Formats: sequence, structure tokens, C-alpha cells
Amino acid sequence: MSTFLCFHVFLLFLAVCAVRDCHPGCRCEVESFGLFDSFSLTSVDCSGVGPDVTPIPIPLDTSFLGLSSNSIRTVTDSMLAGPGYTTLASLDLSSNLISKVDSKAFSRLRYLETLDLSHNSLDELADGCFSGLPLAEVDLSDNRLQELGLNIFTVRGRGRPVIVDVSNNLVRAVSRNPHTSPPNLQSLTLAGNQLEAVPRLQGVPLRYLNLDRNPISRIERDSFVELKDLVHLSLSSLPQLSTIQPHSFRDLHNLQVLDLSNNTKLTSLNSDVFHGLVSLKELNLSNSGVMSLPNNILSHMPSLRSITLRENVSCRRTQKQEQFHRHIGLPKSNKILTCDVTGIIS
Ligand SMILES: *[C@@H]1O[C@H](CO)[C@@H](O)[C@H](O)[C@H]1NC(C)=O
Ligand SMILES: *[C@@H]1O[C@H](CO)[C@@H](O)[C@H](O)[C@H]1NC(C)=O
Ligand SMILES: *[C@@H]1O[C@H](CO)[C@@H](O)[C@H](O)[C@H]1NC(C)=O
Repeated sequence: MSTFLCFHVFLLFLAVCAVRDCHPGCRCEVESFGLFDSFSLTSVDCSGVGPDVTPIPIPLDTSFLGLSSNSIRTVTDSMLAGPGYTTLASLDLSSNLISKVDSKAFSRLRYLETLDLSHNSLDELADGCFSGLPLAEVDLSDNRLQELGLNIFTVRGRGRPVIVDVSNNLVRAVSRNPHTSPPNLQSLTLAGNQLEAVPRLQGVPLRYLNLDRNPISRIERDSFVELKDLVHLSLSSLPQLSTIQPHSFRDLHNLQVLDLSNNTKLTSLNSDVFHGLVSLKELNLSNSGVMSLPNNILSHMPSLRSITLRENVSCRRTQKQEQFHRHIGLPKSNKILTCDVTGIIS
């Protein structure tokens, strides 16, 4: 009998241990992997718990923390601190009332790769608030941002002076220092903000950039300068966009998808707008004001496969049927655009 009781007490002890660190109201899930389940990662979802949830103790091996829909107003320097925060790879702060993020709020999250701050009330981000973080994916959509610049990745004025000692290979060591490391950001969503111009993000290794639903009225020459890793650019539903200057996209040699749909004030496009887009495959102009396309468009975009112009109207690249010539040295370029309706190519 007493052995039986002891066993039950032991089981109870185990159960208590397993949930010990899960905050009331949160849902914790442990995923084990590796040989003999030697690694485990915990996902902690504290969405909808309420504004008093932070600062919240989390298990030591937490990789994901969800804090959405909690009416949080400020992300303070002390809110995201504690033992479990050093392993955090992903943080969801979406759908709160956040209007302020202190400059050191994320500074202890040394392994943070994904950050969701969408659906909040941010009108600016403090200098250096992303500095030294390995962030790869950031969602800032549906806020009130009027501008965004490289200053979010650097600490202005406060950084230690950098000692450059070339003889000792110290240059490499200095550049790997977390406070001076270059941004790693690959995906940035800024849809639904108050941006009036394309933010200057040169040197950021972005592969995906979304600027939909912003009051951008002009895209200037060199707006996307140095964004040579960009693969997908979304510039859709910009109600005030009327002008895209020639050569605006000229550095985007790896861009494959360009979405310019639902820009009703955009009525014409000079063929030099597409200069440099040598990898572009898909161009979406559906529901824009553009009704015709310049006939030399393929010379700028040799990889183009299709252009969507309106619902059910698209143009595709096709091979022109030509008689076979036995003696030509170089094959003549004979790709043409074929559209569902006539009169589009002018
Ligand atoms: C197109 O843009 C307008 C604003 O200009 C927006 O209200 C509408 O929802 C957009 N439509 C689509 C299909 O995204
Ligand atoms: C083009 O954009 C429209 C509206 O945003 C979208 O519904 C459609 O799926 C897009 N088409 C392609 C081919 O990407
Ligand atoms: C587009 O095509 C679909 C299916 O073929 C059709 O149901 C729809 O009415 C068409 N839309 C327009 C605007 O022609």
C-alpha cells in the first residue's frame, strides 16, 4: 500500500515538474527531436492573456513565444528578459496596441530570427532597436510608420570606437562583433503603413520586400539601389502611385516577381522602367491604369514568362514560328509577347 502511494506521489511530482514553467493562461508545447530525443524546444503561446502578462517567465529552451492580442502598449527594456529569452528564435507581438519599442527591448534576444509586430500602432522605431540581432524575417505591416531607415540596425553615437588592426586580422574579428555585425534581414513586410517614399535599405540582404498599401506617390530612380538579393517585390494597392521613374529597379538583377497590381493611378510605363530586371519572370499589372505595354519590353526582361494585365487578360512569352535556317551562326532572338487580347503591345 505504501509503495503504491509513493508511486502516485512520484507521478504527481513528475507532472508538476513538466508544467512548472508554463505560465497560467499560456499554452506550452514541447517538441523533442534528435537521437533519443536529446533536444527539445518549447513553444509558449500566451496570446489573449491580457496586458499584465509581461514580464513572463518562460522555460529555458523556449524557441517560440506568442504574445499577440494582449493590449500591450509599450515594449520596455525589461519586458523580454530572463533565462528562457536567450534561446528565443521567434517572437509574435502582433495585434497589440504597441506604440513604442524601447531601444534595448530586444537586445537580449541574441538568437531572434523572426519578429512579428504587425497590427500595432507604431509610428517609429528607436535607433538601434534591431542592432546586433540575427533577425531574418520581420513583419511590421499595419502600423503607422512614416519612415524606416538603416538606423534601426545601428547604434548611433553610442557604439564603442572600432579598433582596426589590419596586421592582426582584427578587421574580421571586429566585423563579427554583434554590435557592428551587418543586418541579416531577408524578409520585410511594411504593408499598410504611412510611408510616402520607398525606405532606403541599401546593403540589407533582403530577398522579399512588401510595401503594399502605403501612400507612396512616386518611385524614384535608384529607389532600390543595392538590393541585389531581392527576389520578390510587392508594390500593390498604392492608391497614390502615379509615376515610376526610368531605372528605378536597375540594381534588382535577381528579382523574379514584381507585383504592381491595383495601382489605379499608374497609367503608363516607359520601357526604361524595366531596365536591369534580367531575371524577372512574373509581372503583375492587373487592375492598374496601364492599358498598353511598350513593344521592346522583352529586351529589358529576357527571362519574362508572363504579364498579368487584368482579370483574364495576360501576355505570355512565346517562340515565334520561323523557318529553319541551316546556315545561321547565332540564333536570332525571336521571342515575342502574345496577349489574350489585341492592341496591348504598342
Ligand atoms: C485596391 O486598392 C484599394 C485602395 O487603393 C483597396 O481599397 C482595395 O482593397 C484594393 N483591392 C485589392 C483587391 O487588393
Ligand atoms: C496579381 O494581383 C492580383 C491582385 O493583387 C492578384 O489577385 C493576382 O493573384 C496576382 N496575379 C499573379 C499572377 O500574381
Ligand atoms: C474570367 O474568367 C472566368 C472563368 O473563365 C469567368 O468566370 C469570369 O467571369 C471572367 N472575368 C472577366 C472579368 O471576364
